[in-house]
Amino acid sequence: MKDMHDFWADALRKYWGLDARLTRLDGEYDLNFLVEAKNGQDYVLKVMRAGCEPEFVDLQVKALEHITSEAPGLPFPKVLPSLDGAVLPEIEDKDGHPRLAWLLERLPGQCYAKVEPKSEDLILKLGRVLGATDRALTGFAHGSLQRDDFKWDLVKGGWIADQLDAVSDPSRRALLNEIVQGFTAISDALNSLPTQAIHNDANDYNILVEGELSERRTISGLIDLGDMCAAPRVCEVAIAGAYIVLDYPKPECALTALVRGYHATNRLSAEEVDLIWPMLRMRLAVSVVNSTLMAAENPDDPYVTISQAPAWRFLENEAVNGGLMSARLRSACGLPVVDGAERIHAYLSEHRGHFAEMFGQDLSDVPMGSLSVENSTWPQNPFHMPLEEAARVGEEFGEGLWLGYYNEPRLIYAEPGFRKGPWKASDRRTVHLAVDVFAPAGTVLRAPMSGRVEVVENRDSHLDYGGVVILHHETPEGDPFYTLYGHLDPEVCDRLKPGDPVAQGAAFVRLGDASQNGGWAPHVHFQLALTTDGMEADWPGVADPDELELWNAVCPNPAALLNLADDKVCYQPTDKQAVLQGRHDHFGGNLSLTYNDPVMLVRGWKHHLFDEWGRPYLDAYNNVPHVGHAHPRIQAVAADQLKRMNSNTRYLHPAQAAFADKVLSKLPDHFEVCFFVNSGTEANELALRLARAHTGAKGIVTPDHGYHGNTNAAVAISAYKFNKPGGIGQADWVELVEVADDYRGSFKRDDADRAQKYADLVYPAIAALQEKGQGVAGFIAETFPTVGGQIIPPKGYLPAVYEKIRAAGGVCIADEVQTGLGRLGEYYFGFEHQGALPDIVVMGKPIGNGHPLGVLVTTKEIAQSFDNGIEFFSTFGGSTLSCRIGKEVLDIVDDEGLQDNARIMGDRLMAGLKQIESEFGCVGDVRGMGLFLGVELINPDGSEGTEICSFVKNRMRDHRILIGSEGPKDNILKIRPPLTIEAEDVDMILWALRDVLKGVGDYAPAPVCDHDHHHAGCGCC
Ligand SMILES: Cc1ncc(COP(=O)(O)O)c(C=O)c1O
Repeated sequence: MKDMHDFWADALRKYWGLDARLTRLDGEYDLNFLVEAKNGQDYVLKVMRAGCEPEFVDLQVKALEHITSEAPGLPFPKVLPSLDGAVLPEIEDKDGHPRLAWLLERLPGQCYAKVEPKSEDLILKLGRVLGATDRALTGFAHGSLQRDDFKWDLVKGGWIADQLDAVSDPSRRALLNEIVQGFTAISDALNSLPTQAIHNDANDYNILVEGELSERRTISGLIDLGDMCAAPRVCEVAIAGAYIVLDYPKPECALTALVRGYHATNRLSAEEVDLIWPMLRMRLAVSVVNSTLMAAENPDDPYVTISQAPAWRFLENEAVNGGLMSARLRSACGLPVVDGAERIHAYLSEHRGHFAEMFGQDLSDVPMGSLSVENSTWPQNPFHMPLEEAARVGEEFGEGLWLGYYNEPRLIYAEPGFRKGPWKASDRRTVHLAVDVFAPAGTVLRAPMSGRVEVVENRDSHLDYGGVVILHHETPEGDPFYTLYGHLDPEVCDRLKPGDPVAQGAAFVRLGDASQNGGWAPHVHFQLALTTDGMEADWPGVADPDELELWNAVCPNPAALLNLADDKVCYQPTDKQAVLQGRHDHFGGNLSLTYNDPVMLVRGWKHHLFDEWGRPYLDAYNNVPHVGHAHPRIQAVAADQLKRMNSNTRYLHPAQAAFADKVLSKLPDHFEVCFFVNSGTEANELALRLARAHTGAKGIVTPDHGYHGNTNAAVAISAYKFNKPGGIGQADWVELVEVADDYRGSFKRDDADRAQKYADLVYPAIAALQEKGQGVAGFIAETFPTVGGQIIPPKGYLPAVYEKIRAAGGVCIADEVQTGLGRLGEYYFGFEHQGALPDIVVMGKPIGNGHPLGVLVTTKEIAQSFDNGIEFFSTFGGSTLSCRIGKEVLDIVDDEGLQDNARIMGDRLMAGLKQIESEFGCVGDVRGMGLFLGVELINPDGSEGTEICSFVKNRMRDHRILIGSEGPKDNILKIRPPLTIEAEDVDMILWALRDVLKGVGDYAPAPVCDHDHHHAGCGCC
């Protein structure tokens, strides 16, 4: 081996003048070497097998030269001529055989096959590169491009027809037969296309990808031109597509992205686009037949059969709707979904106003009623539409005629059948593709234009159409299109049959009542379609908002057939960009937004939220909706109290004491006095005043990186704010102590005395305050530091701190805003875990479930010190409404067993996260309790993985899961859902996190020079 390396290293020196280290690369027949030259450059040396046909090597070399000169930006390597100017010198190998050798620049990146995840964005970029490559190759000519009997020339793929008997499984043989027939059907169209040089083999191993975290990846190389031939350019797309779709979770989306990308750099015609799908399947058929034949020759080689498996999985996957593919790919390219689309649109527009009145009257003044996600609260639970609600949908719009919008996202399609994945937050079809006309049951409908019955059925399953009719129509030029009428009286099934003519204006159906029409308030769902390919009788009445490009093209607005203007019936959700702009215009820049692509949320239910398009999100972040978003009991209590009165604590109301009793029932007996305020901030402000009134001192000791609120004093005790660049800095009455973080801090988990050691750190802080004459008013800490990184201090830490603070005369304040009220599962408050007894406890956020509410509880003694003659009054704190809501929240936690749920779900989540920690190097630590959890992400060197965390947080949002990030370096995922979360949601979080972490790979940030520890290339030393 060594000899061979030395030999070619010598040849390299002699022919190219390069001193280099050679490493053998893969290559079936030829010798390929990675060349690491002393000049710092890397190359690839290709030594062709003895006896290879020189014209095919010349073809590759010339093609590369052509591409790199035509389109220098494309990721192809330059060929480096030898010292005497030859690009393909013939060199005698050590056995004396002449070998052709060529030297190429080495392209960066790893092969696409090894990249995870293969995002649609990356596939789109691949499409762009392929399109641009084929454009660059249009003018390229070479004598060897015409390859006779070349089995990978897809145009000639028909060779497999005679070989199908090699496939023994009859159903697979039948499938291949069908594919071959489909291919034969398009062969005229294919043969009529111009041919040109194409790469012809963009498989996973011939594509290089560069980039760190997946969202920034780019195509850095398209290698191995060994299969080049002359063919229609659409073969390029079909061949690349045949690899891209394999084992892709949504193969149609992968193919769409590829075609969209290709079309962006190399425009395809509609006729070409139509060929892609049958050709893609044909390419896979060629692959499996070829490998079956090879397997017959090498019966002992298991690899051949293993390599077929993904292709068979794809070909036999019935979930992929091939019938819809042409429309899907055409719409991705902005091409008409059917050839007659423009004529149909023109016809409909021209005849608008002249179609027969479907309801026997002009509908232009009939009011619209919106059932949109934003405007409507049907159904109360967006995951379940009970029949009694369905039968009443839209009752607020009265009993007369009213119209429902086209293109309107709605949550009324709540059943699992509308979901596209296993989770509640999976993609969901929400957007209405029809116009509804609500009218009394029994109302007769007239055909807007003549046609013939295509389908007439009674779909009597739950919340389906009941009676439904599809009519077939034609434009005068003979372009077919179709209309659908759903929720009819099924009596129509006894009167009409497919093929029956229906005259324009004929009264042909009538509206069903809820017992006949699938269960809905009486109305017709009136939908137009330009094609029924891929859906036949089973048209989706609503679409996934992320597939609207396709569905708006297949099922356009049917307003013209109702003699209405398109705009009248076309719904426009609030424009997110406009809202964003309004935010920029009217708010300060430091009102921060989460996510690179912010999310606009307009409805919620328990632990799910919905954006303006009805996309569901699993809320694994927000602790404020403690008992769940839009809880019916909170709605009821708030509405009830607002109907009566809402006043303040200067007047008596039983709700005040009732709330105080409830709060105190959850606390040790020594807490006897409550203060009701508006926020956690206000409660902490008050806590400082109480502590100072009680002690007569001013100084406060608090852990680093804490957060206690946004007012002057609250910021002064929040190192997380005052110590940030631009912060107000540390006040002279504040002393910080290190957070008791036993993962990253000074004393680690292997130190049995760490609780005591962290607690001892308050001594110097106390001394410093005393020295400065501030004295010690108290110690305040988030019981489990959250912005500090979701940290659970070692047991015994707080009691030890409290002892020292009390000895110095201070009071101990527990900020339980994040940790209180059952979130921890095992404990109602965090201080219970510590075995500590604070003097003041502060509660906020969750206690109002979204209503602004803060509570402070303390001892009688401290309250008395504060009662120094000055009135305490907070206008809204302790309002009647707040007291009722606060008590209701605490009652719900008890009544629904939410503390127990936090424990059970927290354990499930923790077990899964621990498993994930063991699988992924970038997960440094998993910690927490109940539904207060942190996942610390780290770089390969163990440092804080800030970029990884941002990537994961954004990718989790793409998976429709809201989580946060936290910690001094923002590298800790914060998982903190409402306490209503269920097992399937926990499983979704774990599934998505695992998937997202795969995309982190071995990412490591570029080293940052701190001018003490230099690194190669830092340039400062
Ligand atoms: C621990 C802690 N304390 C106090 C506050 C302040 O509460 P608010 O925003 O209700 O004023 C927060 C808010 O995030 C908090 O997390």
